[in-house]
Amino acid sequence: MKKIIQAVRIKRPDDWHLHLRSGAILKTVLKYSSYTFGRAIIMPNLNPPVVTTEQAENYYRQILKSIPKEHDFQPLMTLFLTEKSNINDIEEGVNRGIIKAVKLYPAGATTNSENGVRDLPNIYKLLEKIARLDIPLLIHGETTDPTVDIFDREAIFVDKILEPLRKKIPDLRIVLEHITTKESVDYVMDSDANLAATITPHHLIINRNSMFKNGIRPHYYCLPLAKRESHRIAIVRAAVSGNSKFFLGTDSAPHLDHLKENACGCAGIFSTPNALSCLAHIFETESALDRLESFTSLNGANYYGLETNKSYIKLSKLKEPKEKIKKISIGSDTLTVFDPGFSLYWTHENI
Ligand code: DOR
Ligand code: ZN
Repeated sequence: MKKIIQAVRIKRPDDWHLHLRSGAILKTVLKYSSYTFGRAIIMPNLNPPVVTTEQAENYYRQILKSIPKEHDFQPLMTLFLTEKSNINDIEEGVNRGIIKAVKLYPAGATTNSENGVRDLPNIYKLLEKIARLDIPLLIHGETTDPTVDIFDREAIFVDKILEPLRKKIPDLRIVLEHITTKESVDYVMDSDANLAATITPHHLIINRNSMFKNGIRPHYYCLPLAKRESHRIAIVRAAVSGNSKFFLGTDSAPHLDHLKENACGCAGIFSTPNALSCLAHIFETESALDRLESFTSLNGANYYGLETNKSYIKLSKLKEPKEKIKKISIGSDTLTVFDPGFSLYWTHENI
């Protein structure tokens, strides 16, 4: 029996931003989410993307089939917005309770986003209608202007694209996903109640140096890129503040190792297996364990207008560090699990 030196009870968490993929990867990674999280917002950037309600329903059924019987987990489906998205189809999906949010990828901003939106004003009419459906618009907030420095893409997006959008359609409820900058933190904090943000565990832990420590580190490469240490500190402050505008979205994004350890490696960090343990470590370090529940289990549900989970989990701090899961096999391939660079002591179980 491992010795426990501290324990905390919190409501079962949710993950408000998750990539599950399909096929063999889905079958392999889903159990790590369904063990820890009650629900997750499922990203639609498959290849081809999940654009219609029918595609979302098919994907939903695929996910349900892969959930271990002993786990209680609800996938919350989203649609990938294109300039040709059909409002009637979106409305039907929302009214039937299948679609919980729509996702805006600027075309070319990240993995499988080629069919995303080229010029946001082209879909303002559609977004006005989405505002009336009262579901959130989830935004990958990076400009795709190739003349903008890659480390500035989020800050420029907020200034040049998000601010005009919010002025034009103030009733639209927005989640600025996976924020990485102090500018985003300040912008979200100063905004009205129709803007919130998700924060990933990895952006709370790594800064841009981590990608280049003694060589190039593809498993710390994701989009948006981690920024300077001062930005990391700003998002840690936001996450541990208890402010209801900030909540967990792991953005756990598995890619097979040979596609990451590649001359042109894919963006994405697979963090689910140790996401909660990392978060408990950070909140403990910041003397904010009493606010972990707000970040992981309350704020997101409230923003989405959903009830919080009924059940609870117990987080326990072990006297000795846990053995880290480093890699997971998929056939003859592997997936590398996010390594936070510190020992993990926190474990959890459903109660
Ligand atoms: O690093 C990322 N990976 N950022 C994204 O926005 C997409 C994700 C993926 O799907 O791999
Ligand atoms: Zn993502």
